[in-house]
Amino acid sequence: MKRSVMKIAILVLVILAACCSLCFSAGEAQVRPMLSNDDCVKCHDGPPADIASAGMKHKLITCQDCHAGHPPKVKKPIPVCSQCHQGNKHFELKGCLTCHKNPHTPLNILFPDNTTEPCLTCHDKQIVQLRENRSKHTSLSCTTCHGSVHRKKPECLKCHKPHASDMAASDCGKCHKAHMPKVIAYDDVPSKLCAACHKKAFDLLNASSAKHKTFNCSFCHQARHKMIPKCQSCHGAKHPAGIMAKFPNCYDCHKVAHDLNNWPVAPKKEQVKKIRR
Ligand code: HEC
Ligand code: HEC
Ligand code: HEC
Ligand code: HEC
Ligand code: HEC
Ligand code: HEC
Ligand code: HEC
Ligand code: HEC
Ligand code: HEC
Ligand code: HEC
Ligand code: HEC
Ligand code: HEC
Repeated sequence: MKRSVMKIAILVLVILAACCSLCFSAGEAQVRPMLSNDDCVKCHDGPPADIASAGMKHKLITCQDCHAGHPPKVKKPIPVCSQCHQGNKHFELKGCLTCHKNPHTPLNILFPDNTTEPCLTCHDKQIVQLRENRSKHTSLSCTTCHGSVHRKKPECLKCHKPHASDMAASDCGKCHKAHMPKVIAYDDVPSKLCAACHKKAFDLLNASSAKHKTFNCSFCHQARHKMIPKCQSCHGAKHPAGIMAKFPNCYDCHKVAHDLNNWPVAPKKEQVKKIRR
């Protein structure tokens, strides 16, 4: 209380003094003292220092472009952002200063918890992915994952365990997309990533001596999870039509794709039954 009274007293004194000196020197009709932008720093050190260090494009304008007038004449010479920022969705948000904490450092941004809608004024792709591919991520807010600092991307391992201990954080993105985590798609990935959940298939293939052993799982199971290829898609009609008519199924003789070791199987009726899945 006392402090602010002091401040006002000093202010009035300074302005009076300025007045007097002006009257004396001019010696004519009263001239109003004018504050110039160079004066502000004499009494306010914070804002000028902030602008100098991180004013960004607000450096392009002056203190008085935003602060027209001064106490006591103008009680609260504080601008609203919409004086200068209008004309897009982002500028229709409420509470600009909840994120742009300090107008003198406008790009130092801190998000409040549970923010989603304001992000959408600039990022529209992610919400579409989240909503069109419903998962448990859909109901999380953007900042639950991205935190309060802009442009940060979290690692999946912040919230999840890997499928196997030798799986690295950089592997997750090979099969999952953050905003549609249940749509599992991949290009060519190392077989050990699949082995985390398919140890049996992995071991069987590895134990084989057939050429299939030299391929990654994703060479055959292409692009999306649970895709099962047809033998014919790579091999075509391998054998004479007569044989194929009698044994229409490749598995009648070749057992399984992961284990061609036991072929050729001379197919007897009972055996065929056994081999057929
Ligand atoms: C002689 C010292 C002095 C100078 C020069 C000065 N101010 Fe001030 N200013 C003050 C004081 C003291 C207050 C507090 C007045 C009050 O609270 O009523 C104040 C208040 C303000 C406020 C209002 C803060 C609020 O919370 O409402 C703004 C904005 C401001 N000044 C901006 C400026 C700008 C811009 C300049 C330069 C053009 C400037 N001042 C020059 C002393 C000064
Ligand atoms: C882009 C417009 C803009 C510019 C440029 C600007 N200000 Fe401000 N200033 C504001 C706004 C908005 C507030 C109110 C902030 C709040 O409510 O938290 C403010 C608050 C203030 C305050 C009171 C609160 C505090 O931080 O002490 C002072 C003093 C001040 N400004 C001085 C200045 C000075 C001096 C300059 C020039 C070096 C300047 N401002 C440039 C918009 C601006
Ligand atoms: C007196 C006019 C004026 C006022 C008031 C004003 N700004 Fe600005 N602001 C500008 C100008 C001019 C630019 C640079 C051109 C542009 O980006 O539009 C700018 C740029 C910005 C930028 C981008 C900075 C950069 O370097 O890219 C942000 C963020 C910003 N303003 C936020 C705010 C917020 C928040 C407020 C209200 C607290 C506000 N401004 C009030 C004039 C103003
Ligand atoms: C939820 C937080 C949030 C709110 C609320 C918010 N902003 Fe922003 N604003 C941002 C982020 C994040 C950026 C992007 C900064 C970057 O490019 O790194 C930004 C950028 C800007 C920019 C510069 C880029 C551009 O589009 O011109 C301006 C100007 C701006 N905001 C003004 C405003 C104004 C005015 C308001 C209130 C009507 C406001 N902001 C409310 C977070 C917010
Ligand atoms: C005013 C516009 C604006 C707002 C609001 C905004 N951003 Fe951004 N954001 C940008 C811009 C511009 C970039 C940098 C360009 C880019 O990579 O798209 C960016 C980048 C990002 C990045 C890094 C992108 C990358 O590829 O590295 C993330 C993550 C991000 N924003 C998340 C968010 C979140 C979460 C919110 C809300 C809490 C938000 N943004 C609000 C404009 C905005
Ligand atoms: C900030 C924490 C957080 C981060 C970061 C995160 N998640 Fe999640 N995730 C969750 C929560 C919470 C759930 C719901 C868990 C539950 O209910 O059991 C979830 C669920 C999932 C699910 C199951 C979805 C469903 O609907 O069943 C998958 C898959 C998933 N996350 C993958 C990922 C991947 C991949 C990443 C990295 C790109 C990732 N998550 C990053 C928090 C996170
Ligand atoms: C479950 C956690 C989670 C949620 C919820 C989430 N993100 Fe992300 N986001 C991530 C992860 C992890 C990445 C990094 C993905 C990568 O590197 O491929 C990312 C990447 C981004 C990027 C960079 C570009 C891109 O699309 O990869 C932007 C922008 C982004 N998120 C914005 C948002 C917005 C906006 C929301 C809310 C609508 C949101 N995110 C919700 C975890 C999340
Ligand atoms: C080789 C592909 C692949 C990689 C790499 C991968 N995932 Fe998965 N993930 C899957 C598949 C497939 C499922 C679905 C399993 C099911 O249907 O039960 C899944 C399910 C999940 C789930 C939900 C079920 C559960 O186990 O809780 C989470 C969470 C998850 N993954 C996180 C991760 C994280 C974190 C990473 C990186 C360390 C990662 N994933 C790497 C393929 C992969
Ligand atoms: C997080 C564990 C996980 C990972 C990693 C994973 N899968 Fe799966 N996979 C499953 C589950 C669970 C099923 C469903 C099993 C069932 O239906 O009996 C499945 C089913 C399959 C099926 C279909 C089986 C059928 O009978 O229709 C194929 C093919 C498959 N996975 C291949 C792969 C390939 C290739 C990879 C590596 C790119 C992989 N999986 C990575 C968990 C995983
Ligand atoms: C994605 C393609 C692909 C699929 C699907 C596929 N194969 Fe093959 N297969 C190959 C390639 C490539 C070779 C090696 C050819 C070479 O080197 O001459 C091969 C080799 C073979 C061989 C020879 C093995 C050896 O060690 O010489 C047999 C037998 C065979 N495949 C049977 C099958 C059967 C049966 C199926 C279905 C269960 C199948 N393949 C599915 C690509 C495929
Ligand atoms: C040469 C192509 C080929 C390769 C390489 C291959 N698969 Fe398969 N896989 C198939 C075919 C064809 C089937 C369906 C018929 C069968 O079982 O032979 C199948 C079936 C499966 C099934 C479902 C039936 C079962 O055996 O559980 C899973 C799971 C599977 N594969 C996972 C894998 C994994 C994991 C790898 C890598 C370690 C892998 N596959 C490598 C072609 C292949
Ligand atoms: C009646 C049993 C039988 C059936 C059914 C059968 N095969 Fe074969 N397949 C054989 C025998 C025996 C050989 C070895 C022939 C040789 O040594 O020339 C063979 C060899 C192959 C070879 C490797 C030799 C080469 O010429 O590259 C491929 C690939 C192959 N078969 C694919 C298939 C496919 C695909 C199907 C299903 C469309 C199929 N087979 C169905 C018995 C069969």
